[in-house]
Amino acid sequence: MAPLVEARGVHKSYWLGEKEIHVLRGASFSLEPGEMASLVGPSGVGKSTFLHVIGTLDPPTAGTVLFEGQDAFSMSEEHLAGFRNNSIGFVFQFHYLLPEFTALQNAAMPGLIHRQPREKAEAQAREMLEIVGLGDRLDHRACCSPTSRPATSTRLPAKGFTRFSAS
Ligand SMILES: Nc1ncnc2c1ncn2[C@@H]1O[C@H](COP(=O)(O)OP(=O)(O)OP(=O)(O)O)[C@@H](O)[C@H]1O
Ligand SMILES: [Mg+2]
Repeated sequence: MAPLVEARGVHKSYWLGEKEIHVLRGASFSLEPGEMASLVGPSGVGKSTFLHVIGTLDPPTAGTVLFEGQDAFSMSEEHLAGFRNNSIGFVFQFHYLLPEFTALQNAAMPGLIHRQPREKAEAQAREMLEIVGLGDRLDHRACCSPTSRPATSTRLPAKGFTRFSAS
C-alpha cells in the first residue's frame, strides 16, 4: 500500500531577481498512517519550505508529492484546494484566528468554507474543541486566553488525513 504522504526528490528554489536560492535539493520523505514525525534543523535550512510543499500550499520546483499514491500537484487548483481543506490540518506558529468571532465560530470556519451546513460545521467544531479541552469555552472570543488550542481545533482536518505544524 502507498504511504499516507510521500515526497520524492523534491527541489524548491526561490528567485530573488536573477539570484536563485536553491533551498530543497532532492528531499525525500514518507509517512505511514498513525506515524508522527518532527522536522528539525537550524534556522533557514528549509523546514518551513518543505512543510509548505508537502502540505500542498506551494508547488515544488521539481519532484513529486503524493498522498496515498496520488500526485497532489496533478490535481486542478480547485480540486487541490478542496482536498487541502478537507484532508490536511495546519497549525501555524501564528494562530490566524479571527478575533471578532467566538472559538466555536472560528473552529467551524473550515467546514463553512467547505460549504457544509452550519449545524454540521458547528457540531464538528464543538467536537474538535472538546478534544483540545475547550468544550466549556465555545462562546469565548478568540482574541484572548489560550489561543493556540482553538487555532489547533480549526486546523483538525474533517476527514483526519494528516496534520502539519509549521513555523
Ligand atoms: N518566499 C521566499 N522568497 C525568497 N527566499 C525565501 C522565501 N521563503 C524562504 N526563503 C529562504 O529560503 C531559506 C529557507 O527558509 P525556511 O523559512 O524554509 O527555513 P526554516 O528552516 O523554516 O527556518 P526557521 O527555523 O527560521 O523557521 C532561507 O534562506 C529563506 O531566507
Ligand atoms: Mg520555519
